[in-house]
Amino acid sequence: MKFFLDTADLDEIAEAASWGALAGVTTNPTLYARIGGKLEHFHDHIKRICEIVGPDCPVSAETVAMERKEMVEDGKRLAALAPNVVVKIPTMVEGLAATRELADEGIRVNMTLCFTVPQAILAARSGARYVSPFIGRFDDISEDGIAQVEDIVDALGNYDFRENTVNGEQIEVIAASIRSANHVTQCALMGADIATVPFGVLKKMVSHPLTEKGIESFLNDWEKVK
Ligand code: E4P
Repeated sequence: MKFFLDTADLDEIAEAASWGALAGVTTNPTLYARIGGKLEHFHDHIKRICEIVGPDCPVSAETVAMERKEMVEDGKRLAALAPNVVVKIPTMVEGLAATRELADEGIRVNMTLCFTVPQAILAARSGARYVSPFIGRFDDISEDGIAQVEDIVDALGNYDFRENTVNGEQIEVIAASIRSANHVTQCALMGADIATVPFGVLKKMVSHPLTEKGIESFLNDWEKVK
């Protein structure tokens, strides 16, 4: 399982990247607004994220266009910012059509706001390189977000979608809208390819009270050795 950071905050991204386990970044309009981002700086901001994480880490940048023509134009502009930009497009008819066009031009798409197996299969058939089912938001409406991601992982695993995607890469499932380290555990057990996590969850993933207690006792005992 790979970990992406779900944020537009440059300090969080730089810090997480320095830990050595970061494989990518996902952003969305809300995350960019949350850090006080302004429209005129958006492209520079995405470029800066790409520089921080390096060319091997995909960085998802979302289009807010709602028509396929504008989505494709916007997607091309975003993809031109850096080789590791992945265009994030919502799961909708116009988004599927735009994904097909972008994939045919060699541009990778992360199909976002996915909540069902049929949506995920359509994303895969349209050439999406990633599909992002949301856990927390599904839980919020009293559905089972984890079960939904598990169904999507199982369903996509039944088929080979490589003929549809850029460079014949198999589509990967990004478990998104993750709210806890326990969500990450569940996603790893079901075999989700990637979990995109907020920085707060990433920090919680590292720590455990028994780890901290153990370190403290080892350090105390080492004092006795000196
Ligand atoms: C990631 O790609 C999504 O945009 C993100 O995980 C959404 O998370 P939220 O439901 O906590 O806003």
